[in-house]
Amino acid sequence: EPRVFSGVQPTGNLHLGNYLGAIRRFVELQDKLPCLFCVVDLHAITVWQEPADLERQTREIAAAFLASGIDAEKHIVFNQSRVPEHAELAWVFNCVARMGWLNRMTQFKDKAGKDREAASAGLFVYPSLMAADILAYRATHVPVGEDQKQHLELTRDIAAKFNNDYSARIAELGLGVPMRMGEESVNGYFPLTEPLIEGPATRVMSLKDGAKKMSKSDPSDLSRINLTDDAETIARKIRKAKTDSDALPSEVAGLAGRAEADNLVGIYAALAGGTRQKVLDEFGGAPFSTFKPALADLAVEKIGPIAGEMRRILADPAGIDATLRKGGERAREIASRTLGEVKSIVGLLAN
Ligand code: TYM
Repeated sequence: EPRVFSGVQPTGNLHLGNYLGAIRRFVELQDKLPCLFCVVDLHAITVWQEPADLERQTREIAAAFLASGIDAEKHIVFNQSRVPEHAELAWVFNCVARMGWLNRMTQFKDKAGKDREAASAGLFVYPSLMAADILAYRATHVPVGEDQKQHLELTRDIAAKFNNDYSARIAELGLGVPMRMGEESVNGYFPLTEPLIEGPATRVMSLKDGAKKMSKSDPSDLSRINLTDDAETIARKIRKAKTDSDALPSEVAGLAGRAEADNLVGIYAALAGGTRQKVLDEFGGAPFSTFKPALADLAVEKIGPIAGEMRRILADPAGIDATLRKGGERAREIASRTLGEVKSIVGLLAN
């Protein structure tokens, strides 16, 4: 049956890209499908995290979920490390995934940088853990930004190889459903998850460089709008955002080759819940001196209340921990059933 899973790393500044590309989409999806939203603390420690910062940031992401309108009663909100089945399933997937597949991951190459020998082994197998996050719940839909597309393809590859390798055993145990894999039909245990990469803001770019994505780790704070920025800071960052000097075009095609303009129009469209073309219908022909203040007002209107609500929620860390604990228990009920089945499929004695 359909189920949504997505995760956000508790590593620093939650920004407009995370919000528009992911969290806001979570809020839309929760009215349609059962969802799990996870603060992926085990992914965070693939690079060094100060322990006290990790705790604070984990609560911050949880607060951002709740402040954005995610319903933790109806859906499951938790932090990854509370559910040991994620790490356990990731081990099985490390034995399914091939070195060659992991070697092709561009995010590993970006994050490891020049000195690949010094990267943690965890950073290399990061995508196996991500596949485990999703498949521990046999989730069918995963809303993410564009930058996670390759990881989700790997998740499908892992699911497909597992289904193939164990097809006979899955059938013997009566645990599979018939699935088409290319021209063959196999007994699939894991679904081939659909990435949901949709809307006008699947790749929000840096405000200082239209060729770089907005990122938590950019040393320049002016490059991003943080979810916790106050109204004045948001307005200042948009005012200082890099642009060219032409007026906005009246057709989307006119944004081609104008990365910074395209980015700001995309942000406006996502905040307003419309399309780029709709924004251009209103602002086509306008100079940035008109468009930027309008964008700043809209951003403040949409993001300001979230920051306020986050502060209110963060004032009660014990309350957040209780929410995560309860979510973890509910998640574990599902994940432990999956792990039990995976163990019997693989031949790991468990009873
Ligand atoms: P993370 O923590 O880097 O980012 C969280 C979400 O925000 C999206 N995102 C963006 N969207 C648009 N524009 C941007 N500039 C931008 N930057 C980030 C990301 O695509 C993501 O959806 N590996 C994941 C976390 C993860 C996960 C999972 C996601 C772990 N397990 C299972 C889905 C399912 C990550 O590092 O996201």
